[in-house]
Amino acid sequence: MPREPIGILGAGWVGSVTAACFAELGHDVVVRDVDPERIRLFSSGRAPFHEPGLGAHLERNGSRLRFTEDAGEVFGSARIVFVCVGTPSTHSGDADLSAVHRVLDELPDVDERVLLVMKSTVPVGTGEKVRNALDARGLAHVGYVSNPEFLAEGSAIRDFMHPDRVVVGAYAEAEGDAVARLYEPLGAHIVRSDVASAEMIKLASNAFLVTRISFINEIANVCEVTGADVVKVAEAIGLDHRLGPHFLRAGIGYGGSCFPKDSLALKQLAANSGYHFQLLSAVIEVNELQKRRVVHKLQKHLGSLRGKRDALLGLSFKPDTDDMREAPSIVLAGRLLAEGVEVRGWDPVALEEARRRLAGVALSDSLLETVDGADAAVIVTEWPELRGLASDEVRAGMRTPFIVDGRNLLDPEETRAAGFVYEGIGRAASLLAELPETPERDSEAAL
Ligand SMILES: NC(=O)c1ccc[n+]([C@@H]2O[C@H](COP(=O)([O-])OP(=O)(O)OC[C@H]3O[C@@H](n4cnc5c(N)ncnc54)[C@H](O)[C@@H]3O)[C@@H](O)[C@H]2O)c1
Repeated sequence: MPREPIGILGAGWVGSVTAACFAELGHDVVVRDVDPERIRLFSSGRAPFHEPGLGAHLERNGSRLRFTEDAGEVFGSARIVFVCVGTPSTHSGDADLSAVHRVLDELPDVDERVLLVMKSTVPVGTGEKVRNALDARGLAHVGYVSNPEFLAEGSAIRDFMHPDRVVVGAYAEAEGDAVARLYEPLGAHIVRSDVASAEMIKLASNAFLVTRISFINEIANVCEVTGADVVKVAEAIGLDHRLGPHFLRAGIGYGGSCFPKDSLALKQLAANSGYHFQLLSAVIEVNELQKRRVVHKLQKHLGSLRGKRDALLGLSFKPDTDDMREAPSIVLAGRLLAEGVEVRGWDPVALEEARRRLAGVALSDSLLETVDGADAAVIVTEWPELRGLASDEVRAGMRTPFIVDGRNLLDPEETRAAGFVYEGIGRAASLLAELPETPERDSEAAL
């Protein structure tokens, strides 16, 4: 396959991984970002965030990668340009497309044929608006293709190189062919569609995933009050070939840079078109409530939380990333601080980000230091390092040996046998778990 220069706008998780992977496939890639610090770090061969394998990919393909702040450099050398800028939520829940608009504003008046490929997650109808704006500017020769990205942080390189499917939505057959050809070496299943359907495939996929998460979390909550064990229940549900095992892990809810904003954006998109997306609204509400259930579990065992010391273990929104966008730890820390708790936080990679986002939380990269003197240790993110949490050292250091396992990471029986009181999410024996009675606890609970 002839290799062609590729342009990328936006050097975030999606842009940098897309760049590194196309370079791995042999293309020369020019990446533009408006953040000078990101460009400086990438230019020196370093990634500004934690993503397994990205550093190695950048190093191996350094000769084919160029990072710049100058959009002109991208359009000067590449005919196919991927748009990978951020599309966060606005206060109304709609997707904020200002970075996409900026890309269009900064688009030079190219006279040769250029193809803009939208990888950012955008509301259905965005392609149509961009197409109209380009035509109105006399840029009908600039093509437009929707090519949503499905990678997950923590496994982004693997996901890009081994995708379940690649979606290519185009107005013109030849434009779709040009993008589809780039993915041929991956041997991926390529789904060709119109632009609006490609946009909807991305939003609907994320909506379906969060629906599964909120579904199993509600089952977990019912398990807790009826004496069933959600881990066993989920295992058996997942064996049904019609359902499959993925995204059936009960916990304290989803967070991250995509699920919360994309589900809200789809709900808003429907509402703006006059449709109330009832199911998705419930899914979002269930997730908000789920994050707060930890507080009830703490109160159940500790009574009033005022003056207690709680250790939040794992602060990034999921393991293998330092991304804290919409991380459940932020909501939890805020709730606990408001209850008068002394909150401590541990994370193996996200401390720098946590310093920016968790004011009032004492942060440490030492697990033992974090749980020292704590009344409760809460597993917020299932980092593998936490599998050994129920140790003699941790128990000896804590004021009360109490673990709230927000991700069902530990074995309840083993944890109890190690001398801890254990509360998981939707675990049958949670009904029986009790800390030794203390008069202080009872009196404070009445406040
Ligand atoms: N992060 C994920 O896991 C993931 C997965 C699939 C899809 N997506 C979608 O991909 C898009 C990007 O996500 P991300 O996580 O990489 O975002 P990000 O915030 O990490 O990165 C976006 C980058 O775009 C840059 N930028 C803004 N305006 C620009 C411009 N005019 N020109 C060039 N660069 C500009 C920003 O400075 C930033 O570095 C979003 O729409 C997101 O929903 C993200």
